Amino acid sequence: MAEGGVQMATVLIRHGRIVTAVDEYQADILIEDGHIRTIGKDLVVGDGVEVHDASGLLVLPGGIDVHTHLDWEFGVARTADTFGTGTRAAAFGGTTTVIDFSNQTRGESPLAGLEDWHRRAASACVDVGAHMILLDVNQQSLADMQTLIRREGVTSFKLFMAYPGVLMLDDGSLFKAMRIAAGHGAMICIHAENGQVIQVLVEEAVAAGHGAPKYHSETRPSLLEGEATHRAIKLAELAKTPLYVVHLSAREALAAVAEARAHDLPVYAETCPHYLFLTNAEYERPGFESAKYVMTPPLRDLSHQQALWRGLRTNALQVISTDHCPFCFNEQPLGLKFSKQQGQSDFSKIPNGAPGIETRVPLVYEGGVRRHGMSLQRFVAVTATNPAKLFGLFPRKGTIAVGSDGDIVLFDPNEPWTIRASEHHSRVDYSLFEGQTLTGRVKKVFLRGQCIVDGKDWRGREGMGVFLKRGECGTL
Ligand code: URP
Ligand code: ZN
Ligand code: ZN
Repeated sequence: MAEGGVQMATVLIRHGRIVTAVDEYQADILIEDGHIRTIGKDLVVGDGVEVHDASGLLVLPGGIDVHTHLDWEFGVARTADTFGTGTRAAAFGGTTTVIDFSNQTRGESPLAGLEDWHRRAASACVDVGAHMILLDVNQQSLADMQTLIRREGVTSFKLFMAYPGVLMLDDGSLFKAMRIAAGHGAMICIHAENGQVIQVLVEEAVAAGHGAPKYHSETRPSLLEGEATHRAIKLAELAKTPLYVVHLSAREALAAVAEARAHDLPVYAETCPHYLFLTNAEYERPGFESAKYVMTPPLRDLSHQQALWRGLRTNALQVISTDHCPFCFNEQPLGLKFSKQQGQSDFSKIPNGAPGIETRVPLVYEGGVRRHGMSLQRFVAVTATNPAKLFGLFPRKGTIAVGSDGDIVLFDPNEPWTIRASEHHSRVDYSLFEGQTLTGRVKKVFLRGQCIVDGKDWRGREGMGVFLKRGECGTL
């Protein structure tokens, strides 16, 4: 029986090529009661078993996206995907686990923020965990951090060094929260940009009448990402906590992470497909079109992109997540609150964030495996296994092994297709990668043994995702 008392099918996936972070071999997989029961050659099963032929396909662990903002209030804006729509899109893209950001409201307990997040997350179609964004660091919230870790299974915290007045914490607050994480097996996720200096640059640009979206990029130089990353690493070293740098985009930040790792510090970092595939040339698009690319940090020039691919090769970067933070380009049909149009005449009012939850796995396959010589094992590591290990989900999630959840993706490495927002499943009305042709496509997706994506058909349902109480965060 599944959670909720639903009878679950016994499923055989046969004749596929299983890929994990360490292996690649031909075998069959039997899934019973949502878990992988047996892996072996030519398994023989009786009647009543649902059989899926994976001949010619790669059999991958379900993808894990550890950076999403679903149904999230961000300043005066709100992200366009509910948990239902966002996680359905995730599933079509080969992602079966999402760790999303819950947040504390200033003046309230983070525990209240988690309760609110649970209400919103109830419609999830894939399994979900929560990080907690801390906004007020005081005695009570530091105590609540411990409750979140021990009782609620929320074992990672995002701290912002950017967005003064909205999300930013001062260095003292960062340090206090880091010390609690250090003592309790939790991970600190850091948004590393020097928010105060950026604020000066933004105010000057606005005063000079520079309202176009490209000034978003010009007021957030890579140096300020590098400076904040270095500062965060030093604070984490002093606090003796592991540190995970989110949405790393800049060469300078990468250098700081690589240096820390060379000194054996537990410092990790993710980047996102948009930094690996796109450059700041997108900000030269005519009119307001370039607002689609207003995310933080902004897109950088080609030299940064090349450094990120090198960082993936050298293991300075361990994870590729999406930072799926979708705002529609058009005001209708969802309304201005969900739209980039809020910043028509002032770039500083454009909601920061971009979609990507559905295209991550195939983009990493195309960019990594096909164009940059990434091994299949590394492809699985950065999209599933490493996030599972770092965020307390391994070996339940992130691998194909006896006893693990039956979260499986059947992937055709040879099928070409073209990214079209009109065909994706998110509520957002554009894709950063519109028109890009990829080779490698998700064919079927299983969540705890249930086939939820079958080609173009949706067989899952809202509310079938379960909340993942996570354990201590791991090391790599
Ligand atoms: O532009 C972005 N990344 N929006 C989401 C908030 C964040 O900083 O992750
Ligand atoms: Zn961030
Ligand atoms: Zn984010």
